[in-house]
Amino acid sequence: MRVKSIFSSNLFRDRVAIVTGGATGIGAAIANELCYLGCNVMIASRNTERLKAAANAMNNNTELRGEASYVKCNIRSESDVKSLTKTTLKRFGKIDYLVNNGGGQFISPAEHISVKGWNAVIETNMTGTFYCSKQVYLDWMSKNGGAIVNISADNWRGIPGMAHTSAARAGVDNLTKTLSLEWVENNVRINSIASGVIDSSTSTARANYADPKIFDSTIKQIPASRLGLPEEISSCVCFLLSPAAEYITGETLKVDGGGSLYGSFLDAILKHTRRSGQPATSPK
Ligand SMILES: NC(=O)c1ccc[n+]([C@@H]2O[C@H](COP(=O)([O-])OP(=O)(O)OC[C@H]3O[C@@H](n4cnc5c(N)ncnc54)[C@H](OP(=O)(O)O)[C@@H]3O)[C@@H](O)[C@H]2O)c1
Repeated sequence: MRVKSIFSSNLFRDRVAIVTGGATGIGAAIANELCYLGCNVMIASRNTERLKAAANAMNNNTELRGEASYVKCNIRSESDVKSLTKTTLKRFGKIDYLVNNGGGQFISPAEHISVKGWNAVIETNMTGTFYCSKQVYLDWMSKNGGAIVNISADNWRGIPGMAHTSAARAGVDNLTKTLSLEWVENNVRINSIASGVIDSSTSTARANYADPKIFDSTIKQIPASRLGLPEEISSCVCFLLSPAAEYITGETLKVDGGGSLYGSFLDAILKHTRRSGQPATSPK
C-alpha cells in the first residue's frame, strides 16, 4: 500500500497503537498511516492469514517508520481482548492509542433479522468496542493516559436496511460521551468518527454481492457526489489521536461528504432488499 500523509513524519514516533480490523479496508489505511508516522501498531482481527499478510506487507514497506505486529482476536470475546492487550504490552511495552475499527453488519429489512444476527452485530459493533476500551483502560491508560477513536457510522436519521448496526452505532456514540467523562481525569480522550459510505475494497465487494446497484444509488444521496476513501477516515483518526486534538473528547466527527445533511439511504438500501425479502448477506 502506498501511504501518503499530511502530518509531520515523526508525529507518532515510538508511540504504540492497537487497531482492530487493521488488516483490511479502513483499518488497514489507519494502521499504515500510523506506522508511516512512526507508530508501532498491533493489528487485531479474526483471520490469522490476513493479519499475517498485512503485518508482513507493512514491515516490508521501507516507507513506514513504525513496526507492525498482529494478534488473532475476536472482539466479541472478552478473553481474546484480554490477551490482545497483554500481548501488545509484552511486544511494545505500552498502549498509547486504541482504534476500535473492527466491525461489520449485513443488509436486511428489520423484520427478517434473526436473534442470532441481531446479537452478532450488536456484540461486534458495540460490545466489542466496550470490551477493547475497558481493557486498554484497565491495563494501561488508567495510569498513563491515552486516546481512543471509534470508527462508527453515519446513523443520525437511522440506517434503513441495517437496524442492528444503526442501534449499535447509536450505543457507541453514547458510550463515547460517557467514557470520555468517566476517564477524563485519567487523561484518556475518546472520540468517534461517524463514517459515511467509504469505498474500501471489502465494503465494495460486500455491497456488490448484496446488489451491484447499491453503491451507485447511494452516490446520488451524497452532496460530495462520490464515495469516501479509507485514507479520508485515516487522516481524521490521526488528527483525533494527535496533540492537535488535545482539547477534544466525547465528540463524534461526521466524515461523510455532507451525506448526513442531505439524502436518505432509504431508496438506496431498503427498497433493494425488500424486493428479495431476505437478508442480503449473512453475519460470520
Ligand atoms: N465502508 C463503509 O462504507 C463503512 C461505513 C460506515 C462504517 N464502517 C465501519 O468501518 C469499519 C471498517 O470497515 P471496512 O469498510 O474497512 O470493512 P472491512 O474491511 O470488512 O473491515 C472490518 C474489519 O473488522 C474485522 N472484524 C469484523 N468482525 C470482527 C470481530 N468480531 N473481531 C475482530 N475483528 C473483526 C474484520 O476482520 P476479520 O473478518 O478477519 O475479523 C475486518 O478486518 C467497520 O466497523 C465498518 O462497519 C464502514
